[in-house]
Amino acid sequence: MKGLILSGGKGTRLYPLTFTSAKQLIPVANKPILFRVIEAIRDAGITDIGIVVGDTAREIKAAVGKGNRWGIQVTYIHQEQPLGLAHAVKVSQDFLEDERFVMFLGDNVIQGGISGLVEQFAASDWNSQIVLTRVAHPEQYGVAELDEDGRIVRLVEKPKQPPSDLALVGIYMFDHHVHEAVDNITPSWRGELEITDAIQWLVEHDYQVYPYIHRGWWIDTGAPTAMLEANSLVLEELTPKIEGYVDRDSEVDSRVTIQKGAEIINSVIRGPTIIGERTRIVNSYVGPFTSIYHDVVIEDSEIERAIVLEHSLIRDIPARIQDSLIGRHVNLTRSPIKPKAYKLTLGDHSQVGIL
Ligand code: G1P
Repeated sequence: MKGLILSGGKGTRLYPLTFTSAKQLIPVANKPILFRVIEAIRDAGITDIGIVVGDTAREIKAAVGKGNRWGIQVTYIHQEQPLGLAHAVKVSQDFLEDERFVMFLGDNVIQGGISGLVEQFAASDWNSQIVLTRVAHPEQYGVAELDEDGRIVRLVEKPKQPPSDLALVGIYMFDHHVHEAVDNITPSWRGELEITDAIQWLVEHDYQVYPYIHRGWWIDTGAPTAMLEANSLVLEELTPKIEGYVDRDSEVDSRVTIQKGAEIINSVIRGPTIIGERTRIVNSYVGPFTSIYHDVVIEDSEIERAIVLEHSLIRDIPARIQDSLIGRHVNLTRSPIKPKAYKLTLGDHSQVGIL
């Protein structure tokens, strides 16, 4: 089997973070989401992996390279425009040939990996297998209607009146018949070739499509709140490890991971939390569900349930920072210079909540 990871798209809901970087490279518990996806596919025994890239191709290639690090071989496939998931399959035909494959959306985070799923599909003669999970807002996803025996009756993309609460998770398995399906569908109201419509085409043409109901958690990290949620869930599953320096005046609990070269000075860190390489936490409090990435400095401040990206500085902030997503090279400090005022240089689409 081959693997196909979709890593294009503009990530508009994560602006301004994704103005300058690909959403799939935002780290969750200090590891880019895309790396987690690659590892899930590799752990299922698949080493021939295609990555579909768009506007952020350069950055994705720089981060992933040829895949040697994971013992896989990566082929990059260019999608000129984000015209839908089924369109991504279309442009990947040369890479996929007639092989069976698993397609995984590069911004999805799932509990428990996909090894069992891939094994089941590889051993079957099914034409496709989809993953479903119960969600609170099915109208935001592709939705499946099943009959009493659990067979698929119908699939619809973002229906106003969802027929069930079973959403399509961004992990799909296909044999070569999907190519015929994507050639036979037309763009949806949002101008995209929907993979949901291609699977519906397979169902209508009597191909065997089987659902797998996923019972753990699953997050599509498209928006900041989802990103923080994914971060919390993954942090809960980390095996803590202290590789950095913690001074005697600090208090670090058993659910904290401190990466190489990090320094914790006179601070309190409560897990589940991860502190990145060469990061310095001084006279501060870092609360649960926080991921501080590499080369960050936090001094005389308090932060909780947040993600802070590399090379940022947070110093002397009078109130606790919470539920926040802070980008790269951000400077968040108290200014001694008069007038006493908020002095902000914020990117387009920034969101700031002041006390
Ligand atoms: C896409 C699919 C949708 C699926 C979702 C999973 O939605 O179209 O069917 O439920 O991924 O993440 P999109 O992220 O393009 O809105």
